Amino acid sequence: MAKTLAAALLLAAIGLVPTYARAADPPLPNKPEPWPFTGIFGTYNEAALQRGFQVYEQVCSACHNLSHLHYADLAGIGYDEAQIKAFAARSEVTTVNNKGKMFKRPARPSDLFVGPFPNEAAAKAAFGGRAPPDLSTIVKARAGGPDLVYGILTGFTKAPKGFPMPPGTFYNKYFPGHRILMPPPLHPGAVHYADGTKATVPQMAHDVASFLTWASHPNLDERHRMGFKVILFLIVAAAVFYAAKRKIWSRIH
Ligand code: HEC
Repeated sequence: MAKTLAAALLLAAIGLVPTYARAADPPLPNKPEPWPFTGIFGTYNEAALQRGFQVYEQVCSACHNLSHLHYADLAGIGYDEAQIKAFAARSEVTTVNNKGKMFKRPARPSDLFVGPFPNEAAAKAAFGGRAPPDLSTIVKARAGGPDLVYGILTGFTKAPKGFPMPPGTFYNKYFPGHRILMPPPLHPGAVHYADGTKATVPQMAHDVASFLTWASHPNLDERHRMGFKVILFLIVAAAVFYAAKRKIWSRIH
């Protein structure tokens, strides 16, 4: 039984380990943000995801897109059909009618998110050569995951003395090379949270990084639930096999 217990403890310990890599250059702060969704028992906090969507919509979407997401996907963070319809209708999509004429109509829940720029070249031109990257997979694509997004959003400081800053660049502690073309997007009170949460910069950074993690891993809760069941099954199976082995071998001794 001791071995079974050891195996169970090991698996529980794995549950506490973050499910994303933290190695990044420049290094992230030693103390990671306490995310509720890391580890195999982690789940999203729906209120934080909704606040994060609000920050995305009211601040980030002026420059970034979430091109992998359909408006209807927002049901996954607890919005109902009417709310999703209203979110979608705030953007316009260009389509072709049956006479071959282009026209604009309000976006529908079945449409992909509409970005701020008509194409990549226009986005690049607006920002001196580097387009604001699509944020739908940023948490998956960058080492550091949500810690990196949180770090960048809270990491704007004055450049150290003698560190050359070309015009249009901003010093950021956690962005590779420290010169970022994104102006600091968050300011205290940049959004007004309906649930009364105070919109400080770290709070908004936490919420939007949580939302972007969901955008990269929308099925994480389900995967964690499944993983938990599999581990429970393995522990029970190990105990049964161990008991069976003892019984069989006891006849030989
Ligand atoms: C005024 C336009 C603008 C706004 C608003 C804005 N960004 Fe950016 N963002 C940029 C640009 C441009 C870059 C590319 C910077 C570079 O490559 O130097 C960028 C880069 C980033 C990166 C780094 C991506 C990488 O390559 O690793 C992250 C993360 C990011 N933005 C998140 C956000 C979030 C979250 C918000 C909303 C809170 C936001 N941005 C708001 C323009 C903007």
